[in-house]
Amino acid sequence: MSRKRLPTAQSCFFWMPVLNFIMKLTKPTAQNRTASSRPTVNTVHRIGGGGMAMDRKALWALCALVSCVAVAGVIALAVGVLRDDPVPRATVLPAPRFHIVLIAQERGNPYWQKVQAGAEAAARERNAFIEVRGPVQTDIEEHVKLLDMAIASRVDGIITQALTEKAFAPVINKAREKGIPVITIDTDAPATKRLAYVGSDNYRAGVQAGQALIRATGGKATVGVITGSFEAENMIQRLKGFRDAVKHAPGIRVVAVESSNISRIYAAERAERMLKDHPDLTALVGTSALDGLGIAEVLEKRGLAGRVTVIAFDDLAETLAYIEKGVITATVVQAPYAMGYRSVHLLVDALEGKPVPPLTYTDTYILTRDTLALHRAAASRESEADRP
Ligand code: BGC
Repeated sequence: MSRKRLPTAQSCFFWMPVLNFIMKLTKPTAQNRTASSRPTVNTVHRIGGGGMAMDRKALWALCALVSCVAVAGVIALAVGVLRDDPVPRATVLPAPRFHIVLIAQERGNPYWQKVQAGAEAAARERNAFIEVRGPVQTDIEEHVKLLDMAIASRVDGIITQALTEKAFAPVINKAREKGIPVITIDTDAPATKRLAYVGSDNYRAGVQAGQALIRATGGKATVGVITGSFEAENMIQRLKGFRDAVKHAPGIRVVAVESSNISRIYAAERAERMLKDHPDLTALVGTSALDGLGIAEVLEKRGLAGRVTVIAFDDLAETLAYIEKGVITATVVQAPYAMGYRSVHLLVDALEGKPVPPLTYTDTYILTRDTLALHRAAASRESEADRP
């Protein structure tokens, strides 16, 4: 909404001729000028007497002019007010057509905040209402409970991670039986009645992590792995992919695998312990977003930054900073914003009766210090466009 304009130099210029005219009228006449040059009692008298006819005319003219200016001013003000519209008008948005619930693994997790940003952008574009829920800390039981609550409140559609097929299949199938379409995101459960999956090919992402390790170490390393969870299907797939990839490098030995429960603090604790138990470790791998951060923290603290190869997951701002400093060697970038964005679009398509592809794999790729500048430039262009 435009703001009310202040008087500008131009508007002052507009009033100059008017002011000049008034000044001319109010200037003393030739007679008066002579008189005023001789300040006598007569002068005073003549003003009210001999020069009276002329001065009264001038006074009338002045009054008329002042009235005209006042009327013009009021009109100009009214026009200006109408044009500038300083009174905020209520914007009437159409009521959202669909109520969608997105259930994340962990509410405050920065990875899931990116998913949320993408989902909200798509919801705005499709005039849907998106409600984001999730446990404060990863908790499968609570996650499933939130899904049950969404079904009970008869939402139009659900987007959720399916951490384990066993725990999530009954509730996903129940939603579908009640006519509520479910899209899985980030972690799939293909044997359920979910409508579609949007997210990484987690096995392939694991393979990429393994290949990055081989490249960074020349195929020779003693490795400790910290995985987000031993139960979650995406973590199982990534670890499997990683192991399969490093099989091709006989010089790589995986000596320890531990779970962080997707917690940065636990990741740091586990890394600390691994370094103590295996002083010959030359590489650490973290398979969920906060694992690499925990690992990097410990290496910096112990003065080992740059001496141990670190392969991480995701491109959180802190991960990029550690890559820049040379603490993290490489990371597997996923597309959480695109996951949120595309899953909402697909769900709305389905609710509108359009066909939806069952599998949408979002991109994953390796980022190192060499490609950091390019990556940052691309990311800022994307955020400007509010697109994945
Ligand atoms: C995974 C998510 C997980 C997150 C935890 C990501 O790499 O894809 O499933 O919730 O890490 O920080």
